[in-house]
Amino acid sequence: MAADILAGVRMDRQDAFARREADDYAKARPKAAKALSKGAGSFLNGVPMHWMADWPMPHLPLVKRAEGSVIEDIDGHKLDDFCLGDTGSMFGHSPEPVAKAIRRQARRGLTYMLPTEDALEAGRLLTERFGNFRWQIATTATDANRFVLRVARAITGRPKVLVFNGCYHGTVDDTFVSLANGVTVPSPGLMGQVNDLTATAVACEFNDLAGVEAALAKGDVAAILTEPVMTNSCMVLPDAGFHDGLRQLSLKYGTLLIMDETHTISSGLGGYTAVHSLRPDIFVVGKCVAGGMPTAVWGLSPAMAERYAAADAAREPGRTGMGTTLSGNPMQFACLVANLSKVMTPENYAHMEAGAERLSHGLKKVIDHHRAPWHVCRVGARVEFICAPGPLKNGSEAAMAHQPVLEAALHTGLINRGSLIAPFHNMMLVSPVTTKHQIDRLLHSFDAILTDLFAKAS
Ligand SMILES: Cc1ncc(COP(=O)(O)O)c(C=O)c1O
Repeated sequence: MAADILAGVRMDRQDAFARREADDYAKARPKAAKALSKGAGSFLNGVPMHWMADWPMPHLPLVKRAEGSVIEDIDGHKLDDFCLGDTGSMFGHSPEPVAKAIRRQARRGLTYMLPTEDALEAGRLLTERFGNFRWQIATTATDANRFVLRVARAITGRPKVLVFNGCYHGTVDDTFVSLANGVTVPSPGLMGQVNDLTATAVACEFNDLAGVEAALAKGDVAAILTEPVMTNSCMVLPDAGFHDGLRQLSLKYGTLLIMDETHTISSGLGGYTAVHSLRPDIFVVGKCVAGGMPTAVWGLSPAMAERYAAADAAREPGRTGMGTTLSGNPMQFACLVANLSKVMTPENYAHMEAGAERLSHGLKKVIDHHRAPWHVCRVGARVEFICAPGPLKNGSEAAMAHQPVLEAALHTGLINRGSLIAPFHNMMLVSPVTTKHQIDRLLHSFDAILTDLFAKAS
């Protein structure tokens, strides 16, 4: 009887590979296993953050330290880090200018509810890097997205947000809708959600301008919230003309256009918006914008800032529903200044781009060599291999392309060979301090793994 095959890989081979890699991983990390068995019980489900339980290995490693593009665990393993905190450390762990700014600010206080001179410099640098927006500071990109949706609704007086099927913009309740047979439904798996999310959100497929137009034509959509490239399912690039079309439609129907650049900041200096001359009404970026210090920023175009001021002046006195106490603290400003001026530089982006191209080219070569029905996708420093043919057009295709069991085995296999990639999709980031040697080591390991997975039956 013919063996079952998924993504070109025989299931019996995949299972044998997964078992062997899991065993090797566990054998190599006795200290972490022991420490976790003693100490993890204080946490809900044994982890301080619930998604940590989703890493694919038999148990978590415990990190001793991370520096540059290397992460070291308590069992003495040094891993080339291509996950980089899923973009939080895209510029490397503790970039020296940021670490220095933290040391300096630590002597001057951590939070005061008042701005510093650094705050003014951060505002200037944000405009220099990302364009002419009027800025606000948040602590997470989730918060920034929540706040800009409030702003968009306040400005337009409309209730709905349009998001793309398969998107992720943080844990923003309003965005957790999906498409099922062309109908917007609450995304599956939400914990404790009791509101009808479809009353305030509509889902469309990425790259489907006709679908977007049909949704906008109803006149109740305050904003389109999108990433320039879909990065949170298997990566989906925009078709030529898609972003132009979105801008035109948003203008035609009086809907605001929000670009969430939290991941696509990998594209180059100023993010995808600057690199591809997009013109959003609202710009959001978080994660690595302050070099790893929890910080996000959101900015309104001057025209939207005017409309915001008018809405603000017209509202009743009371709380706006936006902001958090620790946001806009002096540590964030110090890190923003250091990161924007000394780390987020053209030279560093050039290094990231060249490294990512080397990685992407190498992965394609390995995939071709093994005749795997897979493909590679890249947006600047962000590279992904996808265990299905491509390119993918939208979130539905991306969901079909995802191979969770195979990918989990592959990730563990890469860790056993010294490379850490992002856990939830096959994503790798190249930082300004990632070396060619690290890239080539990952490629060598990827080749070794595919040799095993695609070996002919004997
Ligand atoms: C595009 C995008 N926006 C926003 C967020 C939320 O970021 P955070 O978890 O830091 O709030 C994420 C997280 O992955 C993201 O991918």
